[in-house]
Amino acid sequence: MDKEEIIEKSLKIFRTYFNEKEGHKYKNLITDFAVLDKPFVIDYRNISAYEPELAEALLENPEDVISAMEEAVKLFYEEVLYEYPKKPIKVHIHNLSKTILVKDLAPEYINKFVQVEGIVVLKRDPEDYPYYSVFICKDCGNEMALLQKPYLPFVKPKKCEDCGSRDIELDLEKSKWMPHQIIRVQDLYENLQGNETPRYVEVIILDDLVDKVNAGDKVRITAVYKVLPRKEAKFSTFKRILVANWIEKDTEDYERIEITKEDEEKILELAQRPDIVERITKSIAPEVYGYEEVKLGLALALFGGNEVVLNNKTRLRGISHVLLVGDPGLAKSQLLKSIVNITPRSIYTSGKGVSAAGLTASAVRDELTGSWILEAGVLVLADGGVAAIDELEKMSSKDRSAIHEAMEQNTVSVAKAGITVTLNARTTIIAAANPIAGKFLPEKLLTEQIDLPPTLISRFDLIFILRDEPNPVKDSLIAQHIFKVRQQEEVDIPIPFELLKKYIAYAKRNIKPKFSREAMDKAIKYYVDVRTRTKNTEEENDVKTLPITPRQLEAIIRLSEAYAKMRLSPIVEKSDVQAVIKLLEYTWRDMLLDPETGEIDYMILEMGQSMSSIKKAEKLMDLIKALDDGQGVSYIELLKEAKKQGLSKKDVDKGIAFLEKKKKIFSTVGGLIKISSL
Ligand SMILES: Nc1ncnc2c1ncn2[C@@H]1O[C@H](COP(=O)(O)OP(=O)(O)OP(=O)(O)O)[C@@H](O)[C@H]1O
Ligand SMILES: [Mg+2]
Ligand SMILES: [Zn+2]
Repeated sequence: MDKEEIIEKSLKIFRTYFNEKEGHKYKNLITDFAVLDKPFVIDYRNISAYEPELAEALLENPEDVISAMEEAVKLFYEEVLYEYPKKPIKVHIHNLSKTILVKDLAPEYINKFVQVEGIVVLKRDPEDYPYYSVFICKDCGNEMALLQKPYLPFVKPKKCEDCGSRDIELDLEKSKWMPHQIIRVQDLYENLQGNETPRYVEVIILDDLVDKVNAGDKVRITAVYKVLPRKEAKFSTFKRILVANWIEKDTEDYERIEITKEDEEKILELAQRPDIVERITKSIAPEVYGYEEVKLGLALALFGGNEVVLNNKTRLRGISHVLLVGDPGLAKSQLLKSIVNITPRSIYTSGKGVSAAGLTASAVRDELTGSWILEAGVLVLADGGVAAIDELEKMSSKDRSAIHEAMEQNTVSVAKAGITVTLNARTTIIAAANPIAGKFLPEKLLTEQIDLPPTLISRFDLIFILRDEPNPVKDSLIAQHIFKVRQQEEVDIPIPFELLKKYIAYAKRNIKPKFSREAMDKAIKYYVDVRTRTKNTEEENDVKTLPITPRQLEAIIRLSEAYAKMRLSPIVEKSDVQAVIKLLEYTWRDMLLDPETGEIDYMILEMGQSMSSIKKAEKLMDLIKALDDGQGVSYIELLKEAKKQGLSKKDVDKGIAFLEKKKKIFSTVGGLIKISSL
């Protein structure tokens, strides 16, 4: 298709396009462009409906077609506004019929027009570049102009066209400049299947598109796909690049969710219902059957407690993190994915992470400039939203140490080349993990079965244990539900998805509940009572459990605030606290039960071991100290002495494992047990 034809066909669309809702859309667009400086964005669907051949040509040969279309827009401008355009015209095109993933950018797309979807993981600072470069010959004063390509290295004439001199310089003032920025866009986890690895691509954005998006934004980009030889490489490898034509954000923030007067009425009406909490709970992941407690926990995390900033700038987190641990195939992943859909600025990912930044952040060497730049990981990208982390136990050791800070302080710090940068990560973590053995073994402690440090586990306000226990009645109900969902039959959803989203946004924006006197008394009394109760049993049977700690009290406060928020109540009532305690006790029953004593033991959270085991380990430690003459003790000897003190072989084995893990003792090559000198 030649240029004349492209211009003619484009003009035909601009002139004749009419639609009930949009009216003469392109006439309006050109006026908005002239008067309000709004971008001129053409809907690809309009092109393919009116001029399918042009639509085809655009995909095949985007650079030529777009530049011809720009001339058409110029003519159209003159036609509509009776004057010449005062500024250069850019044609943007969106809504291509096909969207591809970054990982699917294949050679067949080279130099073609594509639409790609992904998340912005890195954004470089914008720079100006002389797209129209004017060079001056220093010897004869000859001026030479060159159009630069934004994706290619800067070119400069080798010698003067007139006198042949090599003394040539760029004239900074005569050249024309344009903002230029590079962002990195990566595949979204939720768009990938099973074990597929997300890939990233660098995107060049120019002019009016610069700084339109931020790291963490989910974007849809139309662009020309290019592959460029790498200069520095020894082998002929090629760098994939997109030259953006248009960028759209898919991300909405809580602040930007629009709530109309009508919505507000519906929300306030809903909040009056006595069964509002149950309704919200039931509306979360409706495709998953049952799990009322888990869903209540997830709902509480979505609403969240109040963040408190003290006078000395210390921040106390209001965010509650939730962990689901369990047997395979129990809809853990499904629940996580579902949550991401109702919360803005949220990301679903796997603990394996994949980018260099992983879950937190890392400093990476910039390929172009060689300087260090910061690449944000999932917890930073999802700042203000939810990070749904599947297979948490698979995270890297770097993330393991950094995630503590993110969970407690809601920040991520990266130290590189002597500078420490701290990024915000006010991110609610909803994580899933499988037990070490793949499945829960009933006789072992939970903390022994998850490959996560107890310090990390104790930062989750709610931990749910999901066990696969066959039960004919329940199984049949689940099976029926799965059929219903698969056949797309009506499943009962008390609050429609869009409204629930708005309800949560409304609560987060407007409600910051305060504890009533009774509610506070209830929480304090519970805390004190549980501590005294466990203390009493301690005295009776020789210290077996550690009482509840301030950590659990804080969880009660955060979750009670969230519970009041669900009711849109400015006051946390006693009933909110009671409901939260009921839920917490439900989760603790499963997790903190010491199978040896039959008691709930919070030490399991703090140390990963029950108090009774720790006491036994201490006894064992005393014994080793007594027996170790500097050469070490043999296992047989230790076992013999331990038996005399009433410890079983199992106690000894468990104790040795625990003490070794805590680095109190170690085994010599000869198999002797020795006290660590530390
Ligand atoms: N209670 C349920 N209601 C509806 N669907 C269910 C339920 N339990 C499991 N499923 C379905 O079973 C499938 C497997 O679930 P999913 O992959 O989420 O399990 P998982 O707990 O993440 O397993 P794994 O530990 O192996 O990753 C999903 O399609 C899920 O929707
Ligand atoms: Mg899973
Ligand atoms: Zn010259």
